[in-house]
Amino acid sequence: MHSNPIFIGLDIGTSSCKAMAIDTNAQLLGSAAVEYPCYAPQAGWSEQHASDWWEGTQAALQKLLSTLDISRIAGLGLSGQMHGMVALDAALQPLRPAILWNDQRTAAQCAEITEKAGGEAGLLGMTNNPMLTGFTAGKILWFRENEPELFVKTKYVVNPKDYIRLLLTGELAMDVSDASGTGLFDVRNHCFSSVLLERLALPASLFPQVLESADLAGEVTAQAAALTGLPCGLPIVAGGGDAVLSALGMGLGGASQVAVTLGTSGVVARHCASFFVNEGAKLQFSRACLPGLFHIMGVTLSAAGSYQWHESMLGDARLPTRGERYKALDAEAAQSPPGANGVLFLPYLSGERCPLNDPGAKGAYFGLRSSTTRGDLNRAVMEGVAFSLRQVYALMAASTGTAERLVLAGGGAVSPLWRQIVADIFGLPAVTLEASEEGSGFGAALLAALGLGAIESAEAAAAKLRQKTETLPQVQNASVYAERFAQYCALYPALRAEKGKESIA
Ligand code: XUL
Repeated sequence: MHSNPIFIGLDIGTSSCKAMAIDTNAQLLGSAAVEYPCYAPQAGWSEQHASDWWEGTQAALQKLLSTLDISRIAGLGLSGQMHGMVALDAALQPLRPAILWNDQRTAAQCAEITEKAGGEAGLLGMTNNPMLTGFTAGKILWFRENEPELFVKTKYVVNPKDYIRLLLTGELAMDVSDASGTGLFDVRNHCFSSVLLERLALPASLFPQVLESADLAGEVTAQAAALTGLPCGLPIVAGGGDAVLSALGMGLGGASQVAVTLGTSGVVARHCASFFVNEGAKLQFSRACLPGLFHIMGVTLSAAGSYQWHESMLGDARLPTRGERYKALDAEAAQSPPGANGVLFLPYLSGERCPLNDPGAKGAYFGLRSSTTRGDLNRAVMEGVAFSLRQVYALMAASTGTAERLVLAGGGAVSPLWRQIVADIFGLPAVTLEASEEGSGFGAALLAALGLGAIESAEAAAAKLRQKTETLPQVQNASVYAERFAQYCALYPALRAEKGKESIA
């Protein structure tokens, strides 16, 4: 290894592939991103071509590597959008477009799996997870039912980043964090649940070997080296799910802090050293990217995604960039007081995972009056997302204790107003870290440095992270937000009841 090594993090995201480089001080040396499309062949569906990820990977790596001293590159770690189903034939070729984490077509299959597992309690005993439409399991059953002629050709199912690792190294594997996100993995016992697979008539051979995230998973082949510019023989660690690796990049060592990501989806996450039963099956429970640790999280499907949608409806089209349009919306939102003059927003634009687990949930602006301003609406969106994340945190705190501070990341954390709203609604100090804007690829690069021994421990990695901002909760806002939070929690059940059995909220 070079005396001053560089580690590459590669994130196969939903909107783009991001490659970045760090040194052993966790200092960012450069990054490059290449976007690719997401397809919705039907409402509620979400698919991507694995070939787009591979083309994006090559372009992003070539762009990044052109700025670096290649002789210093010592390893690469992968992060990826979780849960996506990549079905491979015997020649390891994708059989169909990948069905992604945000695809909502599998409600019937999820109900069937839960029933076959003996209900929620049975499922908890087998996997310690609810069966979410986002998870890989329902997608596999949907595939079997709806495209049987392709399903019979399926030799393996893996997640998105595993396919890219295969093309980089020629080796097929999964990692423990993404395996947990299939919904078929017995998280407690660290293996796929043979009982559940049997009840679903799925062969255990459908999944390749499962590695720890920091384990060496292979080396860059000569062919991949020629296509990407990576050195031939470069070691690659197995990597992990993006939500899990973001937490590593956010310094989640101790249980005293909670990571809150305001990305397209919002994630509240924390690491935990001991197993506990996921009572109520509301949270996602997975193996973390470091052996012996568990990663607990809950996801708000449309977080910054809600604000993005709101901007596309109400942003000032005369402003040339999206960044400027967000700033203008933020400035108006700052004119609206905490509580947004009575407007509440439910961010269920893509259904909702935690705590509702309702793919049919829909969003709402509620409490409009003729005096309502655009600023009230803007603020209500930010508050609604924060309330949703606060619900996740409440569940998490009930089983793992309260936190001392939040670490914020994701596009939404760039907004000082949104940071203040989150700090106020959680009643906790919230910090951002310098690397937090880099997302999970940064965690993947750290993981490579950890796995290859250039950084000695997760604690040492966390100590290298530099704080960028700190936002303290404003005590004077606590009571109004407590009241609004109670109203927020009551709104979805009330709207559902209002409409009878049909879900409208
Ligand atoms: C986590 C999840 C999302 C995706 C986003 O469970 O579904 O964070 O991984 O890429």
